[in-house]
Amino acid sequence: MRKQIVAGNWKMNNDYVDSEQLVSKLREQYIESETEVIIAPPFTSLLCSSNLLKGSRINVAAQNMHYAENGAYTGEISAGMLKSIGVDTVILGHSERRAYFNETDALLAKKVNAALKNNMRIIFCFGEELSDRKSGNEEAIVEGQIKNALFHLPASAWTNIVLAYEPVWAIGTGETASPEQAQDMHAFIRKTIENKYSSALALDVSILYGGSVKPANAKEIFSKEDVDGGLIGGAALDVSQFTAIINAF
Ligand code: PGA
Repeated sequence: MRKQIVAGNWKMNNDYVDSEQLVSKLREQYIESETEVIIAPPFTSLLCSSNLLKGSRINVAAQNMHYAENGAYTGEISAGMLKSIGVDTVILGHSERRAYFNETDALLAKKVNAALKNNMRIIFCFGEELSDRKSGNEEAIVEGQIKNALFHLPASAWTNIVLAYEPVWAIGTGETASPEQAQDMHAFIRKTIENKYSSALALDVSILYGGSVKPANAKEIFSKEDVDGGLIGGAALDVSQFTAIINAF
């Protein structure tokens, strides 16, 4: 059975001290439930966050990684380095990485392979731009992003894949896809996976929605059949908002 997940992507926010405060507060206020909770702090706060969360049911993920094991890649971090500090989940393909750091589907396929080789779980992000939606191309764009980065994988690899549909026009804009728009796209994504693999596999994959999820809209979005949780940006930086979103399940 697929999992319900709420993941907080901190992006480039919170230094070491801020992170310690936020994580401690989250640990205090979080009420355990069936929903898996993940936070993705910046690299410099991964270790202190995992230490502070030991023994809790909140997991820690990285926001990015390089595809190589090691070598002359100044400024980069490998899967092995993340594993060495106990981080075994990584967000890949976020639209900000695609837009500002030129991450292409081909590069993401390499990162996906490297993460899986290191037994990591991937939260794989994708989503269309506003212009794609206006021209009615959103399904073709999303299908292409999934196919190009993930469809070379054997069915067995999918136990380590979580999908996150994040329409670019809804990220950090305060504009959310309507619950119906999210449901329609999630159902399309599941169908796309079913067509390539099997309905059993498609039913097992968690598909998160991301883009301006807030306490006020989380419940309605999460109530949709094919929405298995959320990838939260801005609201994950505030413990009361983030816990309210978790409790929306
Ligand atoms: P947002 O970000 O919730 O601030 O829109 C979502 C994301 O980028 O994952």
